[in-house]
Amino acid sequence: MAESTLRGRRIVVGVTGGIAAYKACDLVSTLVKAEADVQVVMTENARRFVGEITFAALTGNPVSCDLWAPRADVHHVALADFADVVIIAPATANIIGKYANGIADDLLSTALLTFTCPVIIAPAMNSRMLASAAVQANLEALAERGARIVEPEEGWLACGEVGAGRLPDTGVLVAAIEEALRSRGGPLSGLRVLVTAGPTREPIDPVRFISNPSSGRMGYAVAAEAERRGASVTLVSGPVSLEPPLGVEVVAVTSAAEMHEAVEAYAGEVDLFVGAAAVADWRPAEASGEKLSKDGRDEMTVRMVRTPDVIASVARWEPRPVIVGFAAETRDVVANAAEKLRRKGMDLIVANDVGQPGAGFGGETNKVTLVDVIGRETDLPLMSKAAVAAALLDRAGELIASRESQ
Ligand SMILES: Cc1cc2nc3c(=O)[nH]c(=O)nc-3n(C[C@H](O)[C@H](O)[C@H](O)COP(=O)(O)O)c2cc1C
Repeated sequence: MAESTLRGRRIVVGVTGGIAAYKACDLVSTLVKAEADVQVVMTENARRFVGEITFAALTGNPVSCDLWAPRADVHHVALADFADVVIIAPATANIIGKYANGIADDLLSTALLTFTCPVIIAPAMNSRMLASAAVQANLEALAERGARIVEPEEGWLACGEVGAGRLPDTGVLVAAIEEALRSRGGPLSGLRVLVTAGPTREPIDPVRFISNPSSGRMGYAVAAEAERRGASVTLVSGPVSLEPPLGVEVVAVTSAAEMHEAVEAYAGEVDLFVGAAAVADWRPAEASGEKLSKDGRDEMTVRMVRTPDVIASVARWEPRPVIVGFAAETRDVVANAAEKLRRKGMDLIVANDVGQPGAGFGGETNKVTLVDVIGRETDLPLMSKAAVAAALLDRAGELIASRESQ
């Protein structure tokens, strides 16, 4: 099951005084259903078209209209601190003109000048208004300054005319928001990253399985850090009890075979693969459909067979991503890891001595050595898994860059 990239995201929706204001209700409802945290800012004129109570009920947040409403903070600045992304939908010719010319005479137009996050403008108006030299010049000026303009659609307009000026459907607006969230910049901006995390469970019968103590923390930290660095991230996760990282698409799996299948769905589509899952190497050859009874037996033998090797199959992808793997070792840690790196066709391996206190499975910290394909070995001190994720992505970023420059 894939999770939305909107979950937990803080989105300001500006609604202005056009007929299409009613469509903003559907947009807001869709964002809230995707678990985004939405604050609606309406202009005075928007309130002539839809009631603020609708947006307050949909979002569970108070709706802001008034620049002068008494508050403990400065509202337009607080909105800028809150927002990961802003969308003005519908955007009237009036708000477009004000924003393009730096006019700040109500809450929305004032807030627009304070936002540093991506701003999306979805114009909706009569086609002649839209075609007017003033509106076109204003839209051009805004686009040049980095605002993202959602192209209005052709079709039937509320004024009875047919032409360009319709607010696109919710799906198009949501796609623009997702795109803006993905491309906020950062060193991994524009790159697609696939991470695996957690243990797998290999069933013996419906109530028993073979697994390992992986908590998933290392892979979740890598996914969260890659997202923060601007990558588009998918996390294929075995069963763990962790909150999915913000903005990361999570695909939940249970067994090694399911993990392999979920990863293979991205074949050829990623720039960086980080295999942090503790995938079982073996599974019971047959999983009983019924609970195995202990009655009448003192012993039980489970015949085990090999599971698919996820990293080895990623190494066969065309084009092949930069591949990062982990090696949990108990002796000859670096030598064994370097051998595994070569054998599996990886570019970087994170070797950890799971026998050492504070390292490996389960805990908050890790003690690792990075070994890369050009023979560099970096011994890192005991650090948080978030810091290990950052060090790993620094090195992976270098490997991607050096590959691109070849
Ligand atoms: C019935 C009606 C429909 C309107 N529809 C639009 C529209 O779709 N787009 C637009 O730019 N202006 C439209 N206007 C004009 C705006 O409401 C007007 O320019 C107003 O000043 C916009 O204020 P605001 O941008 O602060 O919300 C409409 C006006 C009326 C009376």
